Amino acid sequence: MSNKPDNSIYSKPLIFSVIALVVILIGSVITAFYPLIRADMHPKLDNLHPYTPFELAGRDIYQREGCGYCHSQNVRPLKTDVLRYGAYSQAGESAYERPFLWGSRRTGPDLARAGGKYHDNWHTLHTLNPRHFSPKSNMPAYPWLENALLSPAAVEANVKAYGYINYSPADIQFLEGKTELAALTAYIQSLGRGVKKEGFGYRVGTVEDYKNFLAKGVRGTVDQGQGIYTNECAGCHGVDGKGSAQGKLSEGISTMNLKDAREMGYEAADMYVQIFNGLEQLMPPYGNVLSSEQIDSLILYIETLERR
Ligand code: HEC
Ligand code: HEC
Repeated sequence: MSNKPDNSIYSKPLIFSVIALVVILIGSVITAFYPLIRADMHPKLDNLHPYTPFELAGRDIYQREGCGYCHSQNVRPLKTDVLRYGAYSQAGESAYERPFLWGSRRTGPDLARAGGKYHDNWHTLHTLNPRHFSPKSNMPAYPWLENALLSPAAVEANVKAYGYINYSPADIQFLEGKTELAALTAYIQSLGRGVKKEGFGYRVGTVEDYKNFLAKGVRGTVDQGQGIYTNECAGCHGVDGKGSAQGKLSEGISTMNLKDAREMGYEAADMYVQIFNGLEQLMPPYGNVLSSEQIDSLILYIETLERR
């Protein structure tokens, strides 16, 4: 051991602290701020494109009416969420969200994958009277949106503020005479459009599946079928299965009479496939929310409708 005084930096607390602080600050700046300017920290899905002025107007109405207080737009990467709503949310699909409308409260279902699930006419009827489709829905009706017209000048000013939205004079002219309800519907129909639908655990129902179910020998019941039918199906197919045509809105709500389904050659297994998989834009898929037994109950109930 030498008795030389220790001149190293470790014996100078003040200088040591200052140097340590500077080193930590440099590290912080690099790790915290550098990523902000890196392109790969701002992912964007390949097929995602900015909202049109019409959709953007609808998005504003969505915020104004407080839809986001009851609806999230954020499918969590949990099996239950994915089965119910579809592909979980990815960072790249929010590239044009200003502000984000992810939300956390789910009084109503998540809407991140709502685009294309229903027909435009369904949204019109549902927004005017949610109880038409879900008798127990606590979603408010928004009747004033039906007659309120968009102001093209106001929408254009808003679009300009966003900066990155390409639009032509024709896009603004298009807004002339359009209702707020139509804009809101266009916005809902745009949700999730950049996201690929395959490969997220979607199951597709087949005739084979129904045969396998029947082979087990446990059938559903007409009573159970009637209960589910009243809540889930009557809004589109009518309480008696004769359809619930609403004048010019009947397209996409129900053009079909379930009582005729058999005459048109629909066997039980076809109904199973139809109920399981739904129809893009027309009828939602129920395969991930109803069990095979529940679907069988629906089929048994529909068969009693045929006899009435
Ligand atoms: C008080 C809460 C509440 C508010 C506010 C609300 N909703 Fe809903 N919403 C619900 C509930 C509950 C359901 C499920 C029952 C139904 O279909 O009505 C629902 C269902 C929906 C659905 C169907 C989703 C699906 O996948 O079946 C859409 C679309 C929708 N709401 C849009 C809107 C829009 C647009 C607004 C604002 C104009 C809004 N909601 C405001 C509670 C709410
Ligand atoms: C959003 C509206 C909507 C809802 C809700 C809905 N359907 Fe449908 N459904 C349709 C439409 C539209 C068609 C297709 C009509 C056509 O082919 O022109 C259809 C077709 C069918 C078919 C095929 C036979 C046929 O008539 O074409 C069956 C079976 C069926 N639906 C059963 C159900 C059952 C059971 C439920 C409830 C679990 C249900 N649907 C909920 C709109 C709906």
